[in-house]
Amino acid sequence: MLFALFMSIFLVLAACGTSSEKANSDGDGKKKLRVVTDAAYAPFEYMDKDKIIGFDVDVFTAAAEEAGYDFEIVNVGWDPVFAELENDTADVGLSAITINDDRLKSYDFSVPYFESTNKILAPEGTDIEKAADLADKTVAVQSGTTGADAVDALLGNGNKQVKKFENNNLAILEMKNKGADAVVADNAVLEAYAKNNPQDNFTVIEDKEGFESEYYGFMFPKDSDIVDDLSKGLNAILDNGKYTEIYQKWFGQEPDIDNLKA
Ligand code: ARG
Repeated sequence: MLFALFMSIFLVLAACGTSSEKANSDGDGKKKLRVVTDAAYAPFEYMDKDKIIGFDVDVFTAAAEEAGYDFEIVNVGWDPVFAELENDTADVGLSAITINDDRLKSYDFSVPYFESTNKILAPEGTDIEKAADLADKTVAVQSGTTGADAVDALLGNGNKQVKKFENNNLAILEMKNKGADAVVADNAVLEAYAKNNPQDNFTVIEDKEGFESEYYGFMFPKDSDIVDDLSKGLNAILDNGKYTEIYQKWFGQEPDIDNLKA
C-alpha cells in the first residue's frame, strides 16, 4: 500500500519532469532559443520567399552550433526586437545591431562579429559629398538606428526634414519616390542595394570623419546567462575558419579578423 503510494508519487514527479523539460529544452538540457530579427536588412537578414537568410543567420547558426544551442529565428521587426528582449520574451536579438553605450545600459552583447559604419545613399549626380552636406536635405532613415541618431545629430532632433521609417527598405522606397534626397544606413546594406538595383541609379557616399566606426553584436536581455556561451561560440568560429568561410560567401573577400578581436 505504502509502496504503491510512493510509486505513484514517483511516476507523477517523473512525468512532470519530462514535460516541463520538453517545453524549454532540447536533448542536452539547453533551452531552445527564440532569436528575433528585422529581416529587411540584406545582406545581413532578409526574406528569401518564406525563409530568413543572410550573413547574420549563417554566423549565428555556426556560433550556436559550437555552443550547443538549438534555436528558431523569428522575423518580428526592428522595434519589437528591442521590446522582446526588454520583456524577456526572446533570448537573442540578431539584426546587425550595433553595440553602443546607450544600448549597453539596457542590454547585454556578445563579442563583436562585424565592423560597420554609416554611409549615404543618394541619386547619382547628387551634390552631397559628405555627412555635413545633409544639413539642408531631406533624409530618410530607419527609426531607432544609429543612422537615425547620426542624422538627428546633423539636422537637429525633431527636424521635419528627417523622415523616419519602420524598416530600411521603406526609407529607400521613399527616396525612390522622390520623397527624400538621401538615405543613411549601414555601409554593407547600401552597397548591396546599389549593386543589386542598378536601374535605380543610386550612388553610395562615404565619410570616414562624419560617421563613426561601429561593431555588431548579438544582443541579449540584461544579465542573460547565455552571453558567454555564444561569445565563446563566436570566438570559436573566428578561430576555426568557419567565420571566414561565411564572410567570403556573402562579401566575396577576406574578413579582417584581427581588427574584430582587438
Ligand atoms: N547597425 C544599425 C543599428 O544597430 C542598424 C541596424 C538595422 N538592422 C536591421 N535589421 N534593420 O542601429
